[in-house]
Amino acid sequence: MMNMNCRLNGPARLMLVSDLDYTLVDHDAPDNLSLLKFNALWESYYRHDSLLVFSTGRSPITYKPLRNQKPLLTPDITIMSVGTEIMYGGGTDMIPDLGWQQFLSHRWDRAVVVEETNQFPQLTPQAEGEQRPHKLDVKIIYSSGIALDVLPKGAGKGQALAYLLKKFKFEEKLPHNTLVCGDSGNDAELFSLPQVYGVMVSNAQEELLQWYAENVSDNPNMLHATERCAAGIIQALGHFHLGPNVSPRDFKDFRKCKVEMSSPAHEVVKFFLFYERWRRAEVEKSEEYIQNLKPVFHSLGIFVHPSGVELPIHQCIDSLAGLHGDKQGKQFWTWVDRLLLVQIGSNAWLVKFNKWELCDNERQCCLTSPDEFEG
Ligand code: GLC
Ligand code: MG
Repeated sequence: MMNMNCRLNGPARLMLVSDLDYTLVDHDAPDNLSLLKFNALWESYYRHDSLLVFSTGRSPITYKPLRNQKPLLTPDITIMSVGTEIMYGGGTDMIPDLGWQQFLSHRWDRAVVVEETNQFPQLTPQAEGEQRPHKLDVKIIYSSGIALDVLPKGAGKGQALAYLLKKFKFEEKLPHNTLVCGDSGNDAELFSLPQVYGVMVSNAQEELLQWYAENVSDNPNMLHATERCAAGIIQALGHFHLGPNVSPRDFKDFRKCKVEMSSPAHEVVKFFLFYERWRRAEVEKSEEYIQNLKPVFHSLGIFVHPSGVELPIHQCIDSLAGLHGDKQGKQFWTWVDRLLLVQIGSNAWLVKFNKWELCDNERQCCLTSPDEFEG
């Protein structure tokens, strides 16, 4: 059995399993603000001990352009094509779960399904009793009022997640909490798993709301959020007390941050939020701001650019002065992804992360291994 959770040595504090389209990603929000808020929250307080799982109807082919269009973090696991493909990783380095592939291929003849469905443009599944052993074992899922998926009976988002939970249990790494998040019909299965918290975002589709009303509306572990998409997910983190639920993006003034919220990850996220606001000239140009950043970073800390160039971190901070306002009036956003912390001394950490920038819809990535952080 493949070790799927090598990044964490023990059980995840939280496994967050989210659908993408109209759940984590709001296609009606061109500024992606609630997704960016979620990103800052996740990298600050969850990335180091929790698992992010995307569960989408998209195939690897249609998932890729979404990653290029929207500021999505890199998940630990990506469940694609409505629970028929499980991949470890979620960036350019995805590894398929072969056991899941094998399991689904058993007694599944796709050619027959295609032939059958082609004959009946308005397919209606027959009653359970009519599904005999030598008829096809299929599952049909209706989503977003438009998509009809015909899948092997053992597939689907819920079954794929159940399979992962079983593997985690076997490895003695069953997450302490699991939160599932969705908006449409193909997400319903996620909500029927035992022992999970669930959030339907406020903008959930009619078919999911109806399923919810008929099946789980009295379950206190389920929430129909009042907020849309990623903001609804953040709302659920607070509602179920699963961890911090105030995104660093919602702090207007970082100097007023509560000390107990501080961690090396949080400091790095805050640093780049400051950098974004500084370049958009949303904070006034003052030398005091720049000097206040320095004590957070070790005086001998080094910033390693992906090109290999190394710079003293304090020199990088000084060079911010020249960037003030260069993105003023632009749609300029930054986010940190895959933040990894390694403690290298009693109060010093090595922090590795990918830093992304989006400016008027053009994006850049900077894989950074920067500095020592002083606690
Ligand atoms: C996504 C997929 C599509 C699927 C739908 C609903 O849009 O691209 O194939 O039918 O999700 O699951
Ligand atoms: Mg969706």
